[in-house]
Amino acid sequence: MEFNTKVATADAVKADCVAVGLYADGELTAAARRIDAASKGAVAAAVKSGDATGKRGNAVMLRNLPGVASPRVLLLGLGKSDEFTDKAFADAVRTAVRSAGAGVKDLAISVSDWKLRGRDHAWQARTLAMAARETVFRTDELKSKKDDNGPRVAQIVLLTDARDAHAEQGLKEGIAIANGAALAKRLGNLPGNVCTPSYLGEQARELGKEWKLGVEVFDRKDIEKLKMGSFLSVTRGSAEPPRLIVARYHGAAKSQAPIVLVGKGITFDSGGISLKPGAAMDEMKFDMCGAASVLGTLRAVAEMKLKVNVIGVIAACENLPSGTATKPGDIVTSMSGQTIEVLNTDAEGRLILCDALTYAERFKPAAVIDIATLTGACVVALGEVNSGLFATDDSLADELLKAARVALDPAWRMPVEEDYQEQLKSNFADMANIGAPGKAGAVIAACFLARFTKAYKWAHLDIAGTAWKSGSAKGATGRPVPLLANFLMKQAAVGGRQ
Ligand code: BES
Ligand code: MN
Ligand code: ZN
Repeated sequence: MEFNTKVATADAVKADCVAVGLYADGELTAAARRIDAASKGAVAAAVKSGDATGKRGNAVMLRNLPGVASPRVLLLGLGKSDEFTDKAFADAVRTAVRSAGAGVKDLAISVSDWKLRGRDHAWQARTLAMAARETVFRTDELKSKKDDNGPRVAQIVLLTDARDAHAEQGLKEGIAIANGAALAKRLGNLPGNVCTPSYLGEQARELGKEWKLGVEVFDRKDIEKLKMGSFLSVTRGSAEPPRLIVARYHGAAKSQAPIVLVGKGITFDSGGISLKPGAAMDEMKFDMCGAASVLGTLRAVAEMKLKVNVIGVIAACENLPSGTATKPGDIVTSMSGQTIEVLNTDAEGRLILCDALTYAERFKPAAVIDIATLTGACVVALGEVNSGLFATDDSLADELLKAARVALDPAWRMPVEEDYQEQLKSNFADMANIGAPGKAGAVIAACFLARFTKAYKWAHLDIAGTAWKSGSAKGATGRPVPLLANFLMKQAAVGGRQ
């Protein structure tokens, strides 16, 4: 899907379809008024007939209006003008692309006259590109017959009053972020027998070639040399070899400390000896979505050529039961030297992340953010709307929350406090890998990770509820690529964290 800006009015632009907005209280946007005037009242008539309600989600197609250059006019309901939100904006774009119909290849759309408080043309263009791309995303790589019933829009033309460099820049950013999110979705949706740890390593290498990232892929021997005993304990039961993937993007001076993104890359989580119940276990192929979001974010950052240094660190392996698998009660030594009693082999994400987090110290990072489908408890707490944000640094947390809002990729802050640490007490090792069942599971997991992140500013995103959808819409969401990309855009704009 391509995106362009064009200086033209809605009535004069020639496209397969031109989309304009109208509000639920009968108020027309400027573009809708122009169409109405040119067509001698066609819009007013559509409103009067009751077809065009202006309500959110309502879309009415008018054809061959006199005085209008495009053969189709799509009237998009924006809802009440004083209730028009950021999300309503993105929803209206999605509705436009979905309602365009099979005959529409190029869709012109006027959005600059949609009343949004505090959002500029760059934001509008960026959000438009992301929302439109999301609507046409398909996973049919492994289908022998490709899906052929979705929207066919190939080009979106954003109408502007005058040449608008901010809108052009916003489109470019939106496309880059959408490309990053699409990569994360694609990898997330691939099954465990295709998307193995080695496959993730190869994908990182390819990404490196295409976008000039420095990529290193470490195998089991290298991981042993690094003394990542906790990471290795998770991969023990599996025949598929583990990988530690490091990918570096240099957009700023070498002297500028990097932001390190650490991703959980469990390519299948059966629970190990603490085996999960069978229902919906297939969804545990999505347990590498944190890793996928790291690669997706790197892609977006590289395409935007952001002036910031970013390093992705991914710990990738499977969690399977077998005669060689780690058993409940086993005690392992992490790279940090701290020992861990593995009371539940299904709490494996923290076991691989803790070693990746220790590894991150060597980069002397400005900040480290880990991204993980870490706990079912986070899904209980926040559902599939907000990612759980845990941070030991308030300013880092605030910046991430701000980025989350701007990106329409919401996150909600949760606590990481000393008092919870008690739950991780072990009689036999420095700590246990789980706390008391049913008590603040997402917080306990974050508190476990906090023990390995004392050397730098750290935040943790638990994306267990937000990385994929279940049911008929089953599939990876590409989150939190938009959140992370927006955060890094801000970091680049202010010249990095000090
Ligand atoms: N990958 C899961 C977390 C998960 C579960 C994400 C369901 C999304 C949906 C993780 O490895 C896990 O199994 N966590 C356990 C931890 C428990 C044993 C302390 C969980 O949440 O049940
Ligand atoms: Mn697990
Ligand atoms: Zn897991």
